[in-house]
Order: sequence, then C-alpha cells, then structure tokens
Amino acid sequence: MTVCEYKPGLEGIPAAQSSISYVDGKRGILEYRGIRIEELATKSTFLETAYLLIWGELPTKEELGAFEREIYLHRRIKYRIRDMMKCFPETGHPMDALQTSAAALGLFYAKRALDDPDYIRQAVVRLVAKIPTMVAAFKQMRKGNDPIQPRDDLGYGANFLYMLNEREPDPLEAQVFDVCLTLHAEHTINASTFSAMVTASTLTDPYAVVASAVGTLAGPLHGGANEEVIAMLEAIGSVENVRPYLEECLQRKTKIMGFGHRVYKVKDPRAKILQSLAEKLFEKSGRDKYYDIAVELEEAVEEKLGSKGIYPNVDFYSGLVYRKLGIPIDLFTPVFAIARVAGWLAHWKEQLAENRIYRPTQVYSGRHDAPYIPITKR
Ligand code: ACO
Repeated sequence: MTVCEYKPGLEGIPAAQSSISYVDGKRGILEYRGIRIEELATKSTFLETAYLLIWGELPTKEELGAFEREIYLHRRIKYRIRDMMKCFPETGHPMDALQTSAAALGLFYAKRALDDPDYIRQAVVRLVAKIPTMVAAFKQMRKGNDPIQPRDDLGYGANFLYMLNEREPDPLEAQVFDVCLTLHAEHTINASTFSAMVTASTLTDPYAVVASAVGTLAGPLHGGANEEVIAMLEAIGSVENVRPYLEECLQRKTKIMGFGHRVYKVKDPRAKILQSLAEKLFEKSGRDKYYDIAVELEEAVEEKLGSKGIYPNVDFYSGLVYRKLGIPIDLFTPVFAIARVAGWLAHWKEQLAENRIYRPTQVYSGRHDAPYIPITKR
C-alpha cells in the first residue's frame, strides 16, 4: 500500500470530483455550474440560482414558476416545531437553534428511498422553504413574541426580512438581500459542505445532512468572520484612526478581519459585488461612517499587504449590508446558512449520484503492545 503524506486540514487534497462550482483564486473568478457569479448576481434570483445549483441547469420559466410556488407553499413550519423552539433558551445562539430545528424536521417527514426523485424534491423544497422561517421565528420568540407568519405575496428574500423585522422591506432592500443570498449560495468544498458530503455518504436523511452542515458552519473559523468585522470597524471608530489601528495590528501581528483567503489572492469577486450593494443602500438612506472607515481600511491594507495577496474577502462588506437591512449581528451566520443550504443540497444530490462512504485513513502515532496496568498501580 502506498504511504501518503499527511496534510493537516486536508489542504490541497482533492476529496471529490464536482461540477457544481469553480474558483480561480488568482484571477478572482467564481462560477456556479460554469456561470460567472457577476452574471448571476445581476441577472438571476436566489431561487433560480438554487435551482441551477441543485439540478445543474437554469430552469425554464415553467420550471422556475413551479419551484417558486412549491417553496412559497411550504414556508410555514409545523406548530410542534414552533412549540419546540419556544422551549429553547432565549440566550442560546441562533445557529444552535437552527441546527436543532433543521434536525427536528427529519422527525416529521417519513424517510424514503434516496433514489426516489419525489423524495429528493420534497426534501429540497422543505429545507429551502423552512430554514428562513425557523431563523426568523427564533429571533421573534427569544424576545417573547409569537413568530410572524410568512406572507404569500412576498418573494423569498423579502418575506424573510418581513418575518424578521415585522416590516415589509422596500424593493431595493429586498433586491440587495436576494443578491446577498446568491453570493453565499455555494463555494466549492469548504468545511460545512464537506461535512454535508460526509454525512450524505452514509445515506442518512437530508435533514441530518443539513443539520450537520449548520453545526459545522457555526464555528468561528468558518461562518463567523463578518461579525468580527463589525466589531473591528466599531473599535476603529473613525476614518482618522484607520491607519494607526492598522499599524498596531501589523506590529502585534494580529489579523485584519475580513481580509485574506486561502484561495483568493486578489479581491474576492463577492466582496466587489457586496461593496457596490453597500454603496447602493447607503446612497439611498444616508452614508454610514462605518462604510467610510471600511473603504479607508481597504485602501490602507492594500498599500501594506497587497503584495502578499491580502485583499477583502466576502465577509468584509457583508456585515455592513446586513446591519443596514436590520439583521442582528448574531443572525449573520444563520443568514449565511439560509443561502448555503442551496450549495449543501447540490452536493448532497451529487454525492448520492455516485456514492461511496467517506472513510479516509490516518497516520497512527500512538504506541503498540502497551501493558494494562491495574487501577491500584496507576
Ligand atoms: N491580516 C493580516 N495579515 C494576514 C491576514 C489578515 N487578515 N490574512 C493573512 N495574512 C498574512 C499572514 O499573517 C501570513 O503572513 P506571513 O506569511 O508573513 O506569516 C500570510 O498572510 C498567510 O496567512 P495565512 O494565515 O497562512 O493564510 P491562510 O490561507 O491559512 O488563512 C484566512 C486564510 C484564515 C482567511 C486568513 O486570511 C484570516 O485569518 N483572515 C482573517 C479572518 C477572515 O476574514 N476570515 C474569513 C475568511 S472568508 C470565509 O471563510 C467565508
């Protein structure tokens, strides 16, 4: 047997063959099913993009209409799920609430054969439809309010913002949020997607697949950097303080949040789109000093660290946009999950098509033939 080199974090080791998305980190390119992210962000919608990711092709008008209708029909959650969520502690993290609720969906829908296309479609529809409702419901219930029911006349993103804020978003806010979801829908094999694929490979049910991915996304090394960007911009406090703050970080060798990426060595294409969305929002509702601080910081970091390939990543501008849309900081990662469920489900389907259970090997570094020492002699 060939002895393979151990790579911590499996860096650079292909773990699957996939046709879902593609990243070129040197040229700053991201494609979903071969279509550039810039095209999808300006011409598609989140639900159309989700369809593209999961079924591999853009839907026809009829296919999209049917998919949207099914999603809208399944946005409500069962009263028992709501009752279960009411028992969650209001101080609990919304990602824990989401993981538990996503797993609980599996209790209510009978397991069926994973090669049954109707079951696959029903699971996709239920998960894409209900996850935003569960995120918004927890936000209301932790304040002691009843959850706000979905509104049939509102689109996918607009309805989420309505359930969250009890206010119908204006068309610009709804459009910006929809684009944010499209930008976060998929990004090749990252930790949460890999987690979904490993879980899927055991042929368990799709609710368990998504619940395991939500649990993985919740970690601060994966989903949480945009929360830290907001804390950093608040700590900087003024445009004048940007350069002294940066100098201090460089001296102390602390990372600047929202900058740098394992794959992108230029500005993340999603950060460019998010910045233009932030500008649109601030143009309409008045400038935000934190946006000015962010722009100055980007310029200063580029001067100091651009030669190392350190540029804004997707998290740098997303927090500013979310905050402007009235999304509380601890819901930034659940919003990421609302979008990424499309990518997870696409990988679930791809995994099932040519499944082999994940069972990697390890390099054993322990001892052998050790004696058993009786407890009285230890
Ligand atoms: N600020 C300052 N310097 C940085 C930064 C940063 N944000 N990111 C990387 N560097 C420097 C490192 O200090 C290192 O310098 P050195 O070679 O002189 O020692 C070099 O660039 C390489 O850095 P690594 O940490 O080895 O790069 P890696 O690919 O392992 O890390 C990561 C990528 C984790 C994203 C890193 O850039 C980082 O911690 N960024 C800040 C947190 C963040 O924004 N995370 C969100 C990422 S996007 C996402 O997950 C959705």
